[in-house]
Amino acid sequence: MQRPAPVDPAHHPHLSGLFAPQREEVDVRDLEVQGELPADLHGSYLRNGPNPRFDPIGHYVYPIDGDGMVHRVQIVEGTARYTNRFVRTPQVVAEEKAGRALWAGITDPYFPPEEEVGPELANTMRELPDINIVRHGGRLMAMAEAAPPYTLGSDLETLGRETFDGTLPVGLTAHPKIDPHTGEMVAFCYMLDPPYLTWSVIAPDGTVTRAPTPIDGMDRPLMIHDMALTPTYVVLVLAPLVFDLSQIFSGGSPLDWKPDLGVRVALVPRDGGAVRWFSTDTFWMWHTANAFDLPDGDVALDYVEWCYPGGLTRQREPNRSTLSRAVIGRNGITRTVLCERDMEFPRIDDRSTTLGHRVVATIGKSGSSNLPPGAADSLCWFDVQAGTESVWTHESLAPGEPILMPGDAADHWGTIATDREDMSSWFLIFPASDPASGPIARVRLPIRVPAGLHGAWLPSD
Ligand SMILES: [Fe+2]
Repeated sequence: MQRPAPVDPAHHPHLSGLFAPQREEVDVRDLEVQGELPADLHGSYLRNGPNPRFDPIGHYVYPIDGDGMVHRVQIVEGTARYTNRFVRTPQVVAEEKAGRALWAGITDPYFPPEEEVGPELANTMRELPDINIVRHGGRLMAMAEAAPPYTLGSDLETLGRETFDGTLPVGLTAHPKIDPHTGEMVAFCYMLDPPYLTWSVIAPDGTVTRAPTPIDGMDRPLMIHDMALTPTYVVLVLAPLVFDLSQIFSGGSPLDWKPDLGVRVALVPRDGGAVRWFSTDTFWMWHTANAFDLPDGDVALDYVEWCYPGGLTRQREPNRSTLSRAVIGRNGITRTVLCERDMEFPRIDDRSTTLGHRVVATIGKSGSSNLPPGAADSLCWFDVQAGTESVWTHESLAPGEPILMPGDAADHWGTIATDREDMSSWFLIFPASDPASGPIARVRLPIRVPAGLHGAWLPSD
């Protein structure tokens, strides 16, 4: 197949404006702080996101295309430092040598030939460790979806593909869950061929204690973006977004939305017992907030529910999101709406993972601003126990994923936001006791940070 034509970035909503790729890499200390940094806040806020190294060729589909760029804001002894680096996969390194994009989008049936990229990379797909960043077992990993992560060094330099000494060759989800009580990281990986779905466990020291284990009962390859964990179960929501690679060669999408199939939920016992299967009406879920065991043995799952997976399908009717709770167990699946608003990126205090949580924080849209898909103008905190909501909306700042940053005296929420008027980027710190009152400190970042995906707060050791 012929090399695809370039994408026009200026007219692509996810390659321009808030989403325009950042090609500069910097490391700047002693950043300007407006307000006051909390005295007991020491650590790093990290965030990953799609950021193509060169202007793409073929198609560019957000959020599944793009190279990774990791942004880090370090707060140390009352000062702030910003560092950003590309995640340098072999494909990015080859493109830097060529000075242009060689690989097309993930939905394009084009693979660069040997004469362009050499025998080792010929006919490979672009690797996409651009979704999340997770620290576990002494490794800082830029996470891809259903592919191996890339480990980064202390200066965010790329150290290489992480396969846990060859014991996890199938890759990992971008959204593994770390059990704060056992220290284990539990992950799944979907694949295009049988067994289609496996799960694995990595101990706190980085040893793989459960090698990829097939989940019995899978009958087709599905895209599954996130998972949840309780002390007893791995919780997997299987919406009917089915891989059909043959469609690419006839110009279609490799993903086929089949709402007639409904949704299946797998409760996978962490002790290795038989998988429990449940089914319910069709919906789409990108992200879970958390899950926990109920006293009667059922499982509660809080998540953001969508009608269908947005731009990954040809459907164009209004799509709506709700923060929802599914109770899974003796009575099948019962779904309840907790909060109805345009939201995504649900996060809790990570110390409550697998246990009951109080607050789910999300990005949101106020409805008064014209934002591209995936961008926000609000942060929302929903108290699932009180059933109340706090919202902070800004007329020009577009915030990203909120992450809880624990402190000795008080907890805070952090996020990176970009101003839609002058494209300046800021690290914002909100008091967890009253986040809707707005940021108590704003750190001016030295370069624009494109709107992106997920990250982590890593307290200083
Ligand atoms: Fe995600």
